[in-house]
Amino acid sequence: MFDVARHFFTKHEVKQYIDAMVKYKYNLLHLHLTDDEGWRLEIKGLPKLTDVGAWRVKKEGNFGDFIPPTPNEPRDYGGFYTQNDIKEIIQYAKDRYVDILPEIDVPGHSLAAIASYPELSCTPGAEKYQVRSGEKIMDWSRGAPPIALVDNTLCPANEKVYAFLDTVLTQVAALFPFEYIHLGGDEAPINFWQKSDAVKALMQREGMKRIEEVQGYFERRVKTIVEAKGKKFIGWDEILENPMPANTTVMSWRGMKYGIEAAHKGHEVVMSPTTYAYLDYMQGDQITEPKVYASLRLNTSYEFEPVPKGVDPKLIKGAQANLWTEQVYNIRQAEYMTWPRGMAIAESAWSPSSKKNWPTFFSKVENHFDRLDLAETKYSPSVYDPIFKATRAADRSLAISLSTEAPEIDIYYSFDNSEPDRFYPKYTGTLNPPKDATMFKVVTYKGKKKVGRIISMPIDELNKRAGKR
Ligand code: ACM
Repeated sequence: MFDVARHFFTKHEVKQYIDAMVKYKYNLLHLHLTDDEGWRLEIKGLPKLTDVGAWRVKKEGNFGDFIPPTPNEPRDYGGFYTQNDIKEIIQYAKDRYVDILPEIDVPGHSLAAIASYPELSCTPGAEKYQVRSGEKIMDWSRGAPPIALVDNTLCPANEKVYAFLDTVLTQVAALFPFEYIHLGGDEAPINFWQKSDAVKALMQREGMKRIEEVQGYFERRVKTIVEAKGKKFIGWDEILENPMPANTTVMSWRGMKYGIEAAHKGHEVVMSPTTYAYLDYMQGDQITEPKVYASLRLNTSYEFEPVPKGVDPKLIKGAQANLWTEQVYNIRQAEYMTWPRGMAIAESAWSPSSKKNWPTFFSKVENHFDRLDLAETKYSPSVYDPIFKATRAADRSLAISLSTEAPEIDIYYSFDNSEPDRFYPKYTGTLNPPKDATMFKVVTYKGKKKVGRIISMPIDELNKRAGKR
């Protein structure tokens, strides 16, 4: 899954991504085409989706914490695919034996659509909403579903929403030959629905007792529209929080658990769990990576077993890696986030677990690093970087332990602010930094070859991680 909504990637970049994925036997590209930050697909008869919905203010830094845009900042950053672009991408993919699964993410994650057509919202004042440029719009402090600060949901109680989706899905179904259409369904907030008289009236009419049931009503209606276009309905695992017919397919993203439960109820499942398959998570120490709220190292990705014990394997349609792009600003970084973890997930999808072996796999990864170097593909060398562990010794002083994911790696270090090489002290066990040290620098070697990056870790940062002195 490639999220082309949070940051837009041109059709040439999508082709470049397809060229890279097929080398590792990925045969399906799920395009996340719509979100709060952009609507990326031309829909005839709904021109504002791409005149308004595809554009936002260009911002760089920590996406999610941006200063809200001012009215005079130009909304000229983004883009969309014309229907001809999509046909070209589909043909390019087909020539490489890749199918394309389109996703229209509703009812949440819909701010770009609402900014284009405010009548799709239940909330008064939605005419003032704008496509998100990376400012805060959700409060996650109480967990999922988030509390929305602006209403980014389509109104389930408004017939115009279903007419809108009918128009969109008619064209999506005609454009994409793949048998499924993905309708999202993840992370839909309920706090604006709770305030809506239209939603209250809908609940009364349909005999719904709990606000959570409203999404179930929406999903069943949307599924009917998808099927009327001759397609099968798939969505993120939240769509099964309400009763759905057995021919509803889910992508299990909140771990494996929801996929296992779905399969036990007879639903088809694609496994794409955060625990193993989230390519947007940080691969190495957060000091080296654009900051994301979670980490996923290569060796953990390699533990992915898409067909859990006790589940009918026929119901597990496949395994999928997800590249969300809030913190991915360009195609080079998309490559960096995908490789080498994409290799671990591909091998997990295609190989029986009895054939999987971490050291053997890793030696193959190293050969592929040489290939990626020649191809000038960006990839992450984080697997060579040490894992830092900061704790308190018995006297409450800082104790630093290091370990490595990659086998047969030596770590060299300094506390004197100079850059270590293999003639510096070699790490052999827990270290207590000198009293005056402010920086701990490390580098890794395989024999005489430098393999990791020089990492400069502030002692203050390690003290913070170790907790109270
Ligand atoms: C998701 O990661 N919200 C599907």
